[in-house]
Amino acid sequence: MLSLENVSVTFNKGTLLERRALTDINLTIREEDFVTVIGSNGAGKSTLLNIITGNICPQKGRILVNDTEVTAWPVERRARFVARVFQDPLEGTCGELTVEENLALALKRGTQRTLSKALNGKNRNLFEETLARLNLGLEKRLRQPIGLLSGGQRQAISLMMAVLSPMEILVLDEHTAALDPKTASFIIKLTRDIIAEKKLTVLMVTHSMHQALDVGTRTIMMHDGIVKRDLGEEERNKLTHQDLLTFFEEIDG
Ligand SMILES: Nc1ncnc2c1ncn2[C@@H]1O[C@H](COP(=O)(O)OP(=O)(O)OP(=O)(O)O)[C@@H](O)[C@H]1O
Ligand SMILES: [Mg+2]
Repeated sequence: MLSLENVSVTFNKGTLLERRALTDINLTIREEDFVTVIGSNGAGKSTLLNIITGNICPQKGRILVNDTEVTAWPVERRARFVARVFQDPLEGTCGELTVEENLALALKRGTQRTLSKALNGKNRNLFEETLARLNLGLEKRLRQPIGLLSGGQRQAISLMMAVLSPMEILVLDEHTAALDPKTASFIIKLTRDIIAEKKLTVLMVTHSMHQALDVGTRTIMMHDGIVKRDLGEEERNKLTHQDLLTFFEEIDG
């Protein structure tokens, strides 16, 4: 379980550029919740994900994972339980490294192991099996620089990399936004399959109202650093995409 208690984040505090990104957020995310996060540009969605991954430390409030307080834990220390996939496929992978080197880095995430040690025969079999399930033929390209692959292929690998080491909470920040519609729907299907198989707790930011309601079990709507709506499964089932758009209009009005 992931809990945020009275969490606030302000950027550039005390300067002319001061900007409150999150205001007194209280949120409990139960195990295996699959939360879609919506909200207009600047609503605080990425900041919310960043405080869960440890990229940003809130000025106020506490973050707990299974009752352990992790508020001040850095990204590396949280890697054992939280992993993320970014919007830009280039951000989650290192273009100059080969596909297998990228996978080896993912495997050693949160541990002290070196890259060369992670590139052994046993792990190469694991990488081949991992990529074979994508049905993109990537298991034959393990020794090529990952920079040669398309954005969609890289994003599929980013997703597999995120869940390669043991973890519990998967954080997805518009991870299909840079992909063409067909590739985006392939990645969404893959995401759903992996989440169900590994029984992960998930937060997925999306600007697609279809994704927001069709994927996951719960939807939160953010605006100006506040959670405006928190829609459970039953409530979501009664809503249409148009209803969500109406909620946005009500907030803006
Ligand atoms: N590193 C930063 N420094 C200063 N201000 C920031 C920083 N990161 C975010 N902000 C500000 O905090 C607010 C929330 O930003 P955030 O990136 O969380 O929004 P978002 O909901 O993810 O938006 P988008 O849909 O555009 O990705 C915005 O006003 C943004 O300008
Ligand atoms: Mg964002």
